[in-house]
Amino acid sequence: MTKTTEINQETRYKLNNGLEIPIIGFGVYEIPAADTADLVYQALKEGYRHIDTAVGYRNQAQAALGVRRFLNETGALRESVWCTTKLTNQQQGWEETQKALKEIAKDVAEAISYVDLVLLHSPKTSSRKRLDSWKVLEEAVIKPESSAIPIKAIGVSNFGVPHLQELLAAARIKPVLNQLELHPWLPRPELRKFLKDNDILAEAYSPLTQGVKLQDPELLSLETQSGISKAELLLNWSFLQGFVVLVKSAKPKRILDNLKVLPKKGEDRKVFLSDDIWQALDKPNSHDVVTWNKQDPTEFPIDIK
Ligand SMILES: NC(=O)c1ccc[n+]([C@@H]2O[C@H](COP(=O)([O-])OP(=O)(O)OC[C@H]3O[C@@H](n4cnc5c(N)ncnc54)[C@H](OP(=O)(O)O)[C@@H]3O)[C@@H](O)[C@H]2O)c1
Repeated sequence: MTKTTEINQETRYKLNNGLEIPIIGFGVYEIPAADTADLVYQALKEGYRHIDTAVGYRNQAQAALGVRRFLNETGALRESVWCTTKLTNQQQGWEETQKALKEIAKDVAEAISYVDLVLLHSPKTSSRKRLDSWKVLEEAVIKPESSAIPIKAIGVSNFGVPHLQELLAAARIKPVLNQLELHPWLPRPELRKFLKDNDILAEAYSPLTQGVKLQDPELLSLETQSGISKAELLLNWSFLQGFVVLVKSAKPKRILDNLKVLPKKGEDRKVFLSDDIWQALDKPNSHDVVTWNKQDPTEFPIDIK
């Protein structure tokens, strides 16, 4: 028995606002600003159609320039590329978020005219700040003409169930997705069930554990047993879970290898894991956080004022 799914490099998942997001995204966390435009351009040339940056990565302007170069050189439409950015914790709050949107506009508007998705990067502020920011983002979606930059969709990152419940109770617009650290050592079954029940997509970051688990003896033995590289095993696991998957490499060969885990449209090949490997990677009780200094941001107390 094998676990398989019918997805390819061009597959998009429908969000709760009707927009469709490409299922593989090129993440640019820790890519130096000086290299970002080139690597984003190369990733798009290879076939990625989704770029994930953040104000905190200090490379969103360069990421947008990479997108613009790709659009200019290929004649592809702006709508063919999905661009996400995120507000820092310091940019949460009513005035702070209004100012942040102006700063994002300054960085990216000329290159990409609008942002597909803006996320609150983490819940690690206060109820008041999270909710005030959300109101500003909602306003930007509802009245794009009043926003410093048009925004198509809004979402969150690193939110736990209590943060989401609080937001959903107050929101006019639901978050389209929650971007989370997700991999076999951090499968977050309860949080994912809450997302599913509320029609909020799970987007996986650090699917390769930022490299931390790539020397895990069990993973190495699965690689030997299957003849499938450990990176591909982990990406397959993520795609088979139904996540939108964000993966980063600063190395052109790996950028391509990671994309090629998905078949090209029309190619006679499927993403799969054998039952043995699927079982071996199934660790529902594991909660091993490798990012955010190992302090799970989804567990940040909700009631800090
Ligand atoms: N919202 C959040 O709080 C948050 C947090 C973290 C990440 N993210 C987003 O998610 C994206 C991806 O996550 P990530 O960058 O943390 O980690 P990741 O994609 O799990 O891992 C990246 C690491 O794996 C290496 N790598 C990439 N492809 C490989 C391959 N085929 N074989 C072996 N090693 C490989 C990379 O090295 P090289 O670069 O040397 O190839 C890098 O060290 C980020 O770029 C960012 O956009 C969001």
